[in-house]
Amino acid sequence: MLDGKKVLIAVCGSIAAYKTAFFVRLLIKAGAEVQVIMTESAKSFITPLTLSTLSKKPALSSFEKNDMGEWNNHVELGLWADLMVVAPASANTLSKFATGACDNLVSAVYLSARCPVMICPAMDLDMYKHPATVKNLKTLKDYGNLIVDAEDGELASGLNGEGRMAEPEHILRHVENHFRQSQSLKGKQVLMTSGPTHEAIDPVRFIGNHSTGKMGRAIAMELVARGAEVQFVSGPTGHYPKHAQIQVTKVTSADEMFEAAKAYFPESDVAIFTAAVADYKPKNVAKSKIKKKESDLDIVLAPNPDIAKQLGAVKKHQFTIGFALETDEEEVNAVSKLEKKNLDMIVLNSLNHEGAGFAHDTNKVSIFDRHNNVSHFELKSKAEVAKDLVDLLEKALNE
Ligand code: C5P
Repeated sequence: MLDGKKVLIAVCGSIAAYKTAFFVRLLIKAGAEVQVIMTESAKSFITPLTLSTLSKKPALSSFEKNDMGEWNNHVELGLWADLMVVAPASANTLSKFATGACDNLVSAVYLSARCPVMICPAMDLDMYKHPATVKNLKTLKDYGNLIVDAEDGELASGLNGEGRMAEPEHILRHVENHFRQSQSLKGKQVLMTSGPTHEAIDPVRFIGNHSTGKMGRAIAMELVARGAEVQFVSGPTGHYPKHAQIQVTKVTSADEMFEAAKAYFPESDVAIFTAAVADYKPKNVAKSKIKKKESDLDIVLAPNPDIAKQLGAVKKHQFTIGFALETDEEEVNAVSKLEKKNLDMIVLNSLNHEGAGFAHDTNKVSIFDRHNNVSHFELKSKAEVAKDLVDLLEKALNE
């Protein structure tokens, strides 16, 4: 099941570290290649020799020189792994991960890792319930990390409750599910548009909007986590996704976005239009900076191409998904856009909900499809909204 999969296991200081020995054995038996890294305090609970013997590789806890004499094994390890599993993850390490602190090999590898990270917390029940730990776990979930919740039972302190690291067999099941899911969109080519567009008025000014591209980036990351390849056409934003399976094409205006999207569309299986494309552009772009005058300044606007609509009109096998940001008659408008743009699905995000829409890290959406199905979701992080959307996409592609 895990043949050839490269799993990096990070061990923190917790009594549950003894269970990691069993977990390493299970992974090796399942065919995975395992590399263990550990914090200094983890060594008080389990020896590097035990974990090195079971994993068949030296268990590392310090920065080491590579063949080139560079101190960058944290980067190499972060690039090597298909999956990083932090088991057990102590309250201290969770807090470091959540804030970006970096004072040992484990935290440096975490920050360098390009692969998905699965976190298996282990601590006493009061530490687990503390609002600081709850907040750190939520932050890590929002970053897109996979959390394997601690289980209920007897704890080393003698207390009983939630906080025990999940049993090795349970973590193994999560790892297997992860790799199964990571193949579910393998071979699918997805075109995405994302971010705002900037429509030039003159060489220094433009018409734009508040889109940050965060929702688009979260969707792209979820798609590649399931094996898809993404052509990501993005307007100007600071939120470009970084992944070997995502090719980013940077554009500025709606016309440029349309040209790029048109080029990729025929080869795509799915197109997701998350971009907030400016509906209008200045009809004439001034060649030099427009001078300030006392009188009014009129700018004549011409319509931009509707990318989703135009590609929807020529689509063949492509499954297309659009977004709608509405303030009035939200559902009616969303469904009408689904029809007009010949979409298969539309994601409605309402500006009437606090925490939803532009710039926020959270979003509250309802997703409509062309068969009159609707799914309403709670306010969630954009990473979780992306999971919900890609779940529905996957289901529709398999029907
Ligand atoms: O009509 P409206 O702008 O509300 O439609 C939103 C949906 O259409 C989004 O998916 C957006 O990316 C797409 N769209 C587009 N080109 C435009 C305007 C909107 O692709 N010019």
